[in-house]
Amino acid sequence: MLKSGVKRLLGRAGFDIVRSTNNRGGVDDFIPFEATMRAARAAGLSVGDYIDEVMNGTPGATQSTIDELRTLGVFAADPGTVLEIGPGSGRYLEKTVKECAPSRYEIYETAEPWANYLVDTYSVVARPTEGCSLGPTPDASVDLVQAHKVFNTLTFLSTCRYFFEMARVTRPGGRIVFDVMTEGCLDPAAVRAWVSKGGEGHDSYPAAMPRQACVDLFATLGCNLEASFLAPMGFASTEVLVFGKGLDS
Ligand SMILES: C[S@@+](CC[C@H](N)C(=O)[O-])C[C@H]1O[C@@H](n2cnc3c(N)ncnc32)[C@H](O)[C@@H]1O
Repeated sequence: MLKSGVKRLLGRAGFDIVRSTNNRGGVDDFIPFEATMRAARAAGLSVGDYIDEVMNGTPGATQSTIDELRTLGVFAADPGTVLEIGPGSGRYLEKTVKECAPSRYEIYETAEPWANYLVDTYSVVARPTEGCSLGPTPDASVDLVQAHKVFNTLTFLSTCRYFFEMARVTRPGGRIVFDVMTEGCLDPAAVRAWVSKGGEGHDSYPAAMPRQACVDLFATLGCNLEASFLAPMGFASTEVLVFGKGLDS
């Protein structure tokens, strides 16, 4: 049964929820498909813009992250194969395919209605999603691996397992992009805001991740931090990290 506290919390951070098909201990529910699509249509907005503007109160947030990634050269090499973990409504997916028109786009998404919608709308390939593995994707086969607003909803261990998998599937010379809620997003004012506006009914959201632990771990996997920037997450923020996988990795 969905807990009202969870709904309230995710609503405040920009998400209302629906149960996804495969839960592994994090807040791995997502906004209801039909109701969200209806509401976006009624507002005359794309579903991505509806989530940014109406649900999250952060108009243009998705585009600003994509703009930063473009400025950093993430799309410059025209990644031909992209993999996204937890694309949800596809708000980053939609803008990514405009930037680089990959010939193959794989998704790992636990919320089945949204995964089906993305397959139908963007002809992406939905891989069986078991929680923290990218098993069906071969080693070194992807140019750009990304996940947005996913790892603050998963447990620490699931996120770390995904990290190893992301490094494994990335081609040498490829990029890995994801956001995590690091120390940079957790000054006392932000912690106060989370304590007063979030948390009730669900102890695992949002999950924090030490920045240096990410940087050190990915370095051992042949991936070096190239850039980072803060992005809005509802009333708070999250840090986007961009790694490049070494050519000799
Ligand atoms: C907070 S939403 C973010 C969605 C989208 N990336 C965005 O920013 O709008 C988290 C997404 O991750 C999905 N998800 C949850 N657990 C997952 C898992 N273990 N593997 C892959 N996706 C997962 C949810 O269904 C949801 O689509």
